[in-house]
Amino acid sequence: MMNSVFTCVVISLVRLTFTIADDCPSLCDCRDDNTIVFCNSTGISEVPKDLPQNTVTLNLGYNNIKSIPKDAFKGLKQLQNLELGGNQFTETSFLNGALNISSIRTLDLSGGSYMTIPQGLPPNFTTLYFFDNPITTLTANSFVNAPSIEYLELRYNQLKTIEDHAFDPLVNASEIDISFNKLVDGSFSPLSFVKNQKLLNLEFRFNALKTFPNTTHFPRSLQHFDVVGNQIKVIPAYALRTLTNLQTIEVWEGAITTVEDNAFYGLNKLTILDFMEDHVSSVLTNLTFNGLTALKQLFFDSNQVSKIEVGTFHGMTAIQELWFSSNNLTTLEEGVFDLKYNKNLSVIYLDFNPWICDCHIRWLRQMIDDHPDLIQDTGLSVCKGPPPVAGKSWAVLSPKDFVCK
Ligand SMILES: *[C@@H]1O[C@H](CO)[C@@H](O)[C@H](O)[C@H]1NC(C)=O
Ligand SMILES: *[C@@H]1O[C@H](CO)[C@@H](O)[C@H](O)[C@H]1NC(C)=O
Ligand SMILES: *[C@@H]1O[C@H](CO)[C@@H](O)[C@H](O)[C@H]1NC(C)=O
Ligand SMILES: *[C@@H]1O[C@H](CO)[C@@H](O)[C@H](O)[C@H]1NC(C)=O
Ligand SMILES: *[C@@H]1O[C@H](CO)[C@@H](O)[C@H](O)[C@H]1NC(C)=O
Ligand SMILES: *[C@@H]1O[C@H](CO)[C@@H](O)[C@H](O)[C@H]1NC(C)=O
Ligand SMILES: *[C@@H]1O[C@H](CO)[C@@H](O)[C@H](O)[C@H]1NC(C)=O
Ligand SMILES: *[C@@H]1O[C@H](CO)[C@@H](O)[C@H](O)[C@H]1NC(C)=O
Repeated sequence: MMNSVFTCVVISLVRLTFTIADDCPSLCDCRDDNTIVFCNSTGISEVPKDLPQNTVTLNLGYNNIKSIPKDAFKGLKQLQNLELGGNQFTETSFLNGALNISSIRTLDLSGGSYMTIPQGLPPNFTTLYFFDNPITTLTANSFVNAPSIEYLELRYNQLKTIEDHAFDPLVNASEIDISFNKLVDGSFSPLSFVKNQKLLNLEFRFNALKTFPNTTHFPRSLQHFDVVGNQIKVIPAYALRTLTNLQTIEVWEGAITTVEDNAFYGLNKLTILDFMEDHVSSVLTNLTFNGLTALKQLFFDSNQVSKIEVGTFHGMTAIQELWFSSNNLTTLEEGVFDLKYNKNLSVIYLDFNPWICDCHIRWLRQMIDDHPDLIQDTGLSVCKGPPPVAGKSWAVLSPKDFVCK
């Protein structure tokens, strides 16, 4: 009897200690055997002291925590993802060594009040989310103590200046995203990315660049380049010629008026080129897209293109989709679309253009009959003239209606 009471007490004690160590801290929400611990948006002002030892993902975001004590995460040997966003932290919030945890891979410091990249970051982490902070300048010291970063997300800061050598320590960076900042021409040197020889993805979305960046010394490893929503007017000839591994270029919602001949020369791995909602009015010639032998999708909707020369698409032997809705096309010479050159072409958008439906584009209307699925939304391609067919769509007209006086 005594014996079993004793055993019972011992077992309870053992269970109690277990429960304390592995319990979910009050207010927090734990999942997957307490490996995922959500303490975000709970109003706490300190890091809970009783975090489960096997925590892998810890979300402390959107609280009123002012600082992280040195031993806050001590003993959390499996901690990999630490989310600290939305706490008004500054550079001095992490007490000496608090984040010196070699298991951490992903760190989220978004929505804070940092003026610089904090020091004392985890020694071996690969991903830094640093959205929405008021930082204006990256210096040569910014990443000296964080060379393990591979994914650097700096969207929605106030970056105006990237000093020389700022990114140099990031020799393993595969993505650098500095979109939604205040970068202008001259904010960074053409040599800024010269040490990032593993970089795959570089994003400058919605900054204030007026001239196309000088990419001569950008890493050749680049696969995706994004200058969406800037104020760049011209894509110069040979603008990207050294970036021969590029697969996608995005320049939509910008101010591009002119694409010079040979702008994309050398990019024979490019598969997607996206110019939607720019202001391109330059004539498209057989050299505009020269060299794009692997291109599959060309997005050019909502521009002001009024002339596409025969031959413009002929070199794009892999092209599948051509998107030219909402441009300023009135006519196209026979042969612009020629399945002899573009054997895989299967989708063409031409609607919402001011077409003059006379004999000069009868060939195009004939193409709709000959290849019924090729040209999309023919009911939305409405003729602007000549008077007998004005206001009528390609869907209700037939080739014989396309006549010249
Ligand atoms: C905490 O963050 C997770 C995403 O990481 C989210 O799904 C959850 O709704 C958040 N909890 C609260 C209370 O906001
Ligand atoms: C980080 O912790 C390791 C031991 O885990 C120690 O050797 C190293 O000096 C610490 N680094 C800093 C900057 O505190
Ligand atoms: C650093 O991280 C890599 C994986 O990203 C891992 O293989 C390596 O063991 C880590 N090094 C240390 C010291 O934790
Ligand atoms: C870069 O990656 C390599 C290979 O994974 C690794 O050996 C090296 O330590 C990394 N460099 C830094 C600065 O993290
Ligand atoms: C690009 O930058 C390099 C190095 O600074 C320079 O030599 C080259 O002339 C520049 N190219 C253009 C088109 O400005
Ligand atoms: C491009 O078109 C011009 C005529 O406008 C022609 O002389 C030239 O040979 C063509 N070039 C290519 C590469 O097709
Ligand atoms: C559209 O093209 C016509 C000639 O076909 C030209 O007069 C007009 O300026 C162009 N409009 C724009 C916005 O480019
Ligand atoms: C056309 O598409 C087929 C099937 O996807 C592919 O095998 C072929 O290489 C493509 N042709 C060209 C010229 O890209």
